[in-house]
Amino acid sequence: MEVKRESWGTRFGFVLAAAGSAVGLGNIWRFPYLTGENGGSAFILIYLVFVFLIGLSVMIAEFALGRNSGLSAVGAVKSYSDRWTFVGVMGVLSAFLIMGFYPVVGGWALAYIFESFAGLYTRTPEAIDQAFGTFITGTARPIIWMLIFLGMNIIIVAKGIKGGIEQAARVLMPTLFILLIFISIRSVTLEGAGAGVDFLFRPDFSEVNGGTFLAALGQAFFSLSLGMGAMITYGSYLSKKETIPQNALIVTGLDVGVALLAGIAMFPALFAFGMEPAQGPGLVFVVIPIVFSQMGGLGIIFGIIFFVSLAVAALTSSISLLEVVASYLIDQKNVKRKTAVYSTGVLMAFMGVLTSLSLGVFDPLPTLNVGFFDLFDILSDKVFLGFGGMFIAVITGWVANKEVLREELTNEGTTDFVLFEAWHFLIKWIIPPAVAIVAVFGILDIEETAVMIFGLAIIAVLAIFSRKLD
Ligand code: TRP
Repeated sequence: MEVKRESWGTRFGFVLAAAGSAVGLGNIWRFPYLTGENGGSAFILIYLVFVFLIGLSVMIAEFALGRNSGLSAVGAVKSYSDRWTFVGVMGVLSAFLIMGFYPVVGGWALAYIFESFAGLYTRTPEAIDQAFGTFITGTARPIIWMLIFLGMNIIIVAKGIKGGIEQAARVLMPTLFILLIFISIRSVTLEGAGAGVDFLFRPDFSEVNGGTFLAALGQAFFSLSLGMGAMITYGSYLSKKETIPQNALIVTGLDVGVALLAGIAMFPALFAFGMEPAQGPGLVFVVIPIVFSQMGGLGIIFGIIFFVSLAVAALTSSISLLEVVASYLIDQKNVKRKTAVYSTGVLMAFMGVLTSLSLGVFDPLPTLNVGFFDLFDILSDKVFLGFGGMFIAVITGWVANKEVLREELTNEGTTDFVLFEAWHFLIKWIIPPAVAIVAVFGILDIEETAVMIFGLAIIAVLAIFSRKLD
């Protein structure tokens, strides 16, 4: 038996952990509602092109940087040159921003497990829709569920990620997958589902603008957990025997598969029930329960399993986000694990309260003209992840040694990576300008220009002081 690093005992362990981070609310909650808001299949096509041309390449790059340096995000980018330390710090900030809203939605998933018991699926579609609106704009209830979800993260990450959560994910992630297939079948066989299938598969480019491209790029990074060094950290634990391109392809394929399935589960049903596709963040919490309400007694069982597995998928993603912040404090700032996790958790709880309230009683921030939910979402997904991914591509293509990368990606020439030259070309010449162009045109089209400029200013300041950061 070969000796491997302890963290990922098997190939399966690594793929599971990376896929666990990637597959989450991004696939099941976010992908469908963005698709709905951005006109359907044209958005999906652009998203798929970004996933396979940009996302997959950046994932390979992150794994390579991580395994080559043997360090987590900040240390890894710094090891190439301290000019680039800020990219790692941007990653830590991104994790914070995402955790400003992720636990809020994770809390909704938890709450819906209990709503499933409380007769949610016996209501009319209108009542299900209304119940969701009332729930998330409420004050105490969503905050309590958010705190419970965040608390689960804190307990798990404070103990170290091993153990129960891995076991739960091992069972529940495949369950979620199978369940989505069942729901998809139910959904496409509903009367009137055809319009939803068209919406998903018949591209209409008339509504596409710069904002669509930016949303698709942000979603590609968000869903694959890229652009902030999470996959650099995971790569640093990857055994030298594994082939990086192959692992990256598996993780990407799984992630895209779940997202597309979630779309197929939702849109045919949504059109069959005569609802609007641009539902916004409530989509999965409204359409899926309506589908279940059409299943009679089985609906409750499906509903409980669905929301349990959604919550677990969310949890395996959010612990990777909390871990990024915690490991940064532990490695670079010499903070004890428990202290790092608890203090980070308190700050995240505070952000989560603001986010949750911003959906109800809170007015938008006057100067930026957005609520906290959108603020954290736009800053992370439309600014930090994209630019983070761009800088990671620049470091890989322009700073890292090409022959070292070739060795890393072919395991010292023992395995093939026939597309190495193509990959390197993409990373060096195509991806950095492509991301920049998408960002610029996105800024021109997006309504929240002030937020984008605010985010860019933060990045500029971090870049200027990069050498002072650690
Ligand atoms: N990919 C996860 C999802 O789709 C979210 C996530 C986890 C993430 N870790 C990340 C996003 C790191 C960006 C970076 O739900």
